Amino acid sequence: MELKYTTEIPDKDQFFALFETTGWNEEYQLSIDELYDALASSWFMVSAYDSGTLVGFGRIICDGIVHALILDLIVYPRYKYKGIGSAILKELVEKCKKHNIRDIQLFCAKGVIDFYLKHGFVERPGDAPGMELKKQ
Ligand SMILES: CC(C)(COP(=O)(O)OP(=O)(O)OC[C@H]1O[C@@H](n2cnc3c(N)ncnc32)[C@H](O)[C@@H]1OP(=O)(O)O)[C@@H](O)C(=O)NCCC(=O)NCCS
Repeated sequence: MELKYTTEIPDKDQFFALFETTGWNEEYQLSIDELYDALASSWFMVSAYDSGTLVGFGRIICDGIVHALILDLIVYPRYKYKGIGSAILKELVEKCKKHNIRDIQLFCAKGVIDFYLKHGFVERPGDAPGMELKKQ
């Protein structure tokens, strides 16, 4: 398997298919075009391809100086545990470091804490957690 990594925006249908493997869209109810427009507004992104098929992805939204948020790190189920997620995350973090972004954050999905701990991330302190607006 020879993987190719690019920083170009992926094809919208291929990305939608990858995103759908996570189940996250049950909450967001995003259309293919909405998701693509969201991607297009990213600061930086990395896609992994196997023979032209998108098998992994990750992106950053960022103000270019202070805050960066790593989002949508996804590896196609069949391609998990082959180092693809790590390779993408490494590139995303390196991009932030290159630009001296002071604060690099992410939302950790269920069951993935150990993955991020292995890559140098730590949980926020219990008395200073991340917060989100309560769903209606
Ligand atoms: C999380 C995810 C991106 C990891 O990608 P991956 O390509 O499978 O990860 P890698 O193969 O690079 O794994 C690197 C290391 O993390 C470990 N790891 C991978 N997934 C893990 C998980 N879910 N929990 C704990 N450890 C994990 C691997 O065992 C490996 O450890 P090692 O280097 O000691 O052998 C992938 O499982 C995924 O797409 N999950 C569904 C979407 C998701 O939840 N994304 C995270 C959003 S916050």
